[in-house]
Amino acid sequence: MKIIRAEKMGFCFGVKKAVEACYRIAEKKSKNKYILGMVVHNKDVVDEMKRIGFVIIEEEEILNGKDPLVKGDTIIIRAHGTTAEITNILKQKQIEIIDATCIFVDKIKEILIERESLGDEIIFIGDKEHPEVKGIVSFGKKINIFKNLNELKEKPLNSSKKYSVLTQTTLNKEKFMDIKEYLQKHYSNAKIFDRICGATSERQEATRKLSRVCDIVIVIGDLKSSNSKKLLEVALTENPNSYLVQNDIELDLSIFSESMKIGITAGASTPEDIIKKIENKIRGNFNVEY
Ligand code: F3S
Repeated sequence: MKIIRAEKMGFCFGVKKAVEACYRIAEKKSKNKYILGMVVHNKDVVDEMKRIGFVIIEEEEILNGKDPLVKGDTIIIRAHGTTAEITNILKQKQIEIIDATCIFVDKIKEILIERESLGDEIIFIGDKEHPEVKGIVSFGKKINIFKNLNELKEKPLNSSKKYSVLTQTTLNKEKFMDIKEYLQKHYSNAKIFDRICGATSERQEATRKLSRVCDIVIVIGDLKSSNSKKLLEVALTENPNSYLVQNDIELDLSIFSESMKIGITAGASTPEDIIKKIENKIRGNFNVEY
């Protein structure tokens, strides 16, 4: 048996930093520690954060005044960031904010504020229900949000205005190129910013390559994590013998046989220790080449 890992897998840069911030705070503060929303879309990680003393609170609780926060408490803002309104409420309540917003998300926010101050109207391409998008656009004044190129085409731009075009960090690169091509062809007054984060596409590409050369593919990730589910989709298109597994306890060893080449990959929200436990479980039950 052979185990091959995808070239790119597991925690992305932003999630890694956010989780590290949680551990740092857990060591320093003995009580009243909170995380805004799920620090990462992985149930095992969230359970671990609760175990080390964090309470998870949702934005709605803060907006509705139903949160338990009091002056001096500490709250960690997850990698997706949060809205201007939430930030203001937390500041007013004199809560200590540990901002673990990913620098790539922050950069988009900065560009948006700067371009608006220069008089541009902002066009934002992304999912308006996603926390990252909600957070970024809340720092602007009047933002036009479009989900995709079709929606954008429905609203002709004003040729006498200047536009800046920004996107969600995880927007599909091919879709972005289509949008760019459309805008460049029709609107010379639209300035396009490419701030897409490569973490998602890199993991998908590595999974595609891996799935072609393995007998079976194990995608490690939470069943609710959208990036892990997407990786499974990619794996399945190349290899029908692909499975999404949450952790070592749920790994069914009967799907393997000694002669197999096993491919292992993991979403950007899956921590290395869960990956290692799965690998060790396989190694402990089969003769795996090193
Ligand atoms: Fe940041 Fe990209 Fe991860 S934007 S949170 S490094 S997916």
